[in-house]
Amino acid sequence: MKRIIIALDGFSACGKSTLAKDLAKKLHYSYVDSGAMYRAVTLYFIENGVSLEDPIAIESALKDIHVEFHRNPETKANETWLNGINVEKSIRKMEISNLVSEVAALKAVRREMVALQRKAGKKRGIVMDGRDIGSNVFPDAELKIFLTARPEVRAQRRYDELVEKGTPESMEKVVENLAHRDHIDSTREENPLIQCSDARVLDNSDLSKSEQLETVFRWANELKETISPLP
Ligand code: DC
Repeated sequence: MKRIIIALDGFSACGKSTLAKDLAKKLHYSYVDSGAMYRAVTLYFIENGVSLEDPIAIESALKDIHVEFHRNPETKANETWLNGINVEKSIRKMEISNLVSEVAALKAVRREMVALQRKAGKKRGIVMDGRDIGSNVFPDAELKIFLTARPEVRAQRRYDELVEKGTPESMEKVVENLAHRDHIDSTREENPLIQCSDARVLDNSDLSKSEQLETVFRWANELKETISPLP
């Protein structure tokens, strides 16, 4: 059966990563969290004092940035590594969330990250989540999903996630950050977040994790059966 590319896009804190991870596991596909790449770049910029106003410093920093994903043998989850160091926990902090949209809007940063993302999808059989996966990274993805949820549901999810990770923030700050990122992500010049006309829309506000997984798993299987295998 043909291995397909599944592009999962949507606003922040819609539960894209959870769904993408679960779907990849169920299909025995690989999973790439493209947002984690932009977060890792942001961490590097902060730690090394790279100014977002300095294109030369940005180009030079990008040459020194190596982002990889490694499977944690205990949790079996893919974790983000930056230049040989596991940064999975640090890239989820609010300090990173507050700057990542500005970093992800930079042309040079997107050029590098999109190239890495396309490389990861070369063999297909991949689920990738982000903002521009269906519109820009893989416009030929066989299955494009646009995930949405009501704003208050998204804020509560992100709040709970930060508490769970041991880096809690006030609800006010969470709401403010989500609104700020939504605005930048959908209005930036380079590959903004858009709902592709060929994407299937899924509002998961009132769906359990297993209900949303069943829906997209069914979509993937329907497609895999209708698409003929590669010669
Ligand atoms: O999915 P996330 O919240 O971890 O993403 C972090 C930021 O990265 C988000 O504010 C927008 C940006 N991003 C992007 O511009 N393009 C992607 N494909 C994925 C994320």
